[in-house]
Amino acid sequence: MGTLFKNGTVVTASDMVQADVLVEGEKVVLIGQNLPTQGHEVINCEGKYLMPGGIDVHTHLDLPFGGTFSNDDFDVGHKAAAFGGTTMHIDFVNQPRGGSLHDGLVTWREKAKPSQIDYGFHMIISDLRDDVMDEIPSLLDEGITTVKLFMAYKGVFQIDDNTLYKAMQVAAKHGMIVMVHAENGDVEAQLRSQLLAEGKTDPIYHYSSRPPEIEGEATNRAVVLAGLTGCHLYVVHVTCIPAIDALRRGRQLGYPVMGETCVQYFHVTRDHHLGAPGFEGAKYVCSPPVRNEEHHQALWQAFKDDTLQAISTDHCDFWYEGGVGPWQQWEKDHKGGQWAEYEKQDPTYRRPGKELGKGNFAKIPNGMPGIEDRMMVMWELGVNSGKFSPSRFVELMSTNPAKIFGCYPQKGTIAPATDADIVVWDPNAKHTISASTHHMRCDYNVYEGMQVTGVPQQVYLRGKRIVDGNIWLGKNGEGKYVRRIPNAPVL
Ligand code: URP
Ligand code: ZN
Ligand code: ZN
Repeated sequence: MGTLFKNGTVVTASDMVQADVLVEGEKVVLIGQNLPTQGHEVINCEGKYLMPGGIDVHTHLDLPFGGTFSNDDFDVGHKAAAFGGTTMHIDFVNQPRGGSLHDGLVTWREKAKPSQIDYGFHMIISDLRDDVMDEIPSLLDEGITTVKLFMAYKGVFQIDDNTLYKAMQVAAKHGMIVMVHAENGDVEAQLRSQLLAEGKTDPIYHYSSRPPEIEGEATNRAVVLAGLTGCHLYVVHVTCIPAIDALRRGRQLGYPVMGETCVQYFHVTRDHHLGAPGFEGAKYVCSPPVRNEEHHQALWQAFKDDTLQAISTDHCDFWYEGGVGPWQQWEKDHKGGQWAEYEKQDPTYRRPGKELGKGNFAKIPNGMPGIEDRMMVMWELGVNSGKFSPSRFVELMSTNPAKIFGCYPQKGTIAPATDADIVVWDPNAKHTISASTHHMRCDYNVYEGMQVTGVPQQVYLRGKRIVDGNIWLGKNGEGKYVRRIPNAPVL
């Protein structure tokens, strides 16, 4: 017996067709019209779209950062993702200081034990010693095709140009991709200390310490090094005109360079959000910072002319107020999750959050929630506004991520023999986004009050229904690690 999705519109990156989809076990086995129903569970999809599950290739679950840890983990974060129509994500493993890449992997495999959706890993390299350089190719044996280097966060993650260049040479030789966080960390550090010395400590000065020019400069440097080495480059969280220009120029020159932006960079603004009165702006502190309208428009243009290829979240959430009261309430409402041991043992403990940066913008943990909102917000901003067709939406949110990161067509489309990660999407259903109803472990939502039309009604992970409206049907441990293969195309 299989599951037969009847009379929906199947949306892939290339087509929209009215068809039935038959799933048996974990795979799609047949797509056709008027498929016989006998012996199958029939799901009536009249008026609905059937889309491949979303793939968010930039997340930080349970990340040690800025003196605390990001809130969502591989349990709660996965549930939240699935409620938003995302069935796979790729998380960043941290190389521990002084340790090997494999030490980082051991830690992340442990974190991932309660998984509820499928996941892969990218490897952040912050300490690129000779032995670590030699270790890079062995990541392929672990199904990891991507290493990420930071050109910012001086004294924490930042690497120098020599290291970036050498890493690109190694990656190019093995068909791997180098991902970069592109901001000039030396200039940022200088601007930051000047601002603080002048008593400029509010969240808005986070922006002043990271202007678009330093993102553009670093992006250009990485693009040029990719052109020199032939290494495939993927620039994460592109936010602004100078960075887009650098990528566009590189692509015009035929360099193997690609990039993504994240949902928040279309919507959240420097003036209204980051510049909100008091400490409120801390909610929107992330790096690179959110920009204003002219940069939002440039991002839309960058998708029109294929300068950028994917839209992710950089999901990395921290409490805004948290506090013992709200934290305990959250746990009560959500019937517990997988809490770290120290949190279980001391019920009054909570992870510190944004308040760490009261009186000093540089100490605000960087990042915001979004893994649950990505598909709905981009449908609203992209499809409902007429900027993206439903197929283009699928391409940017699922197909391109799978192709670039080496797991297509297992993931990222609906076709015979692919994983049956299927979202039954109701394009007419309405929803108001709010922290009071979201599933992320966070006491605010960046899109609070946004009304969206188009929501995931049911979500299937490899043939198993894990979300049905508001009901959670998944189980811990059911998410599988996705091994990825190298030599992916440049899109
Ligand atoms: O603000 C951000 N982006 N936080 C997460 C770490 C990173 O830079 O991606
Ligand atoms: Zn980053
Ligand atoms: Zn990130």
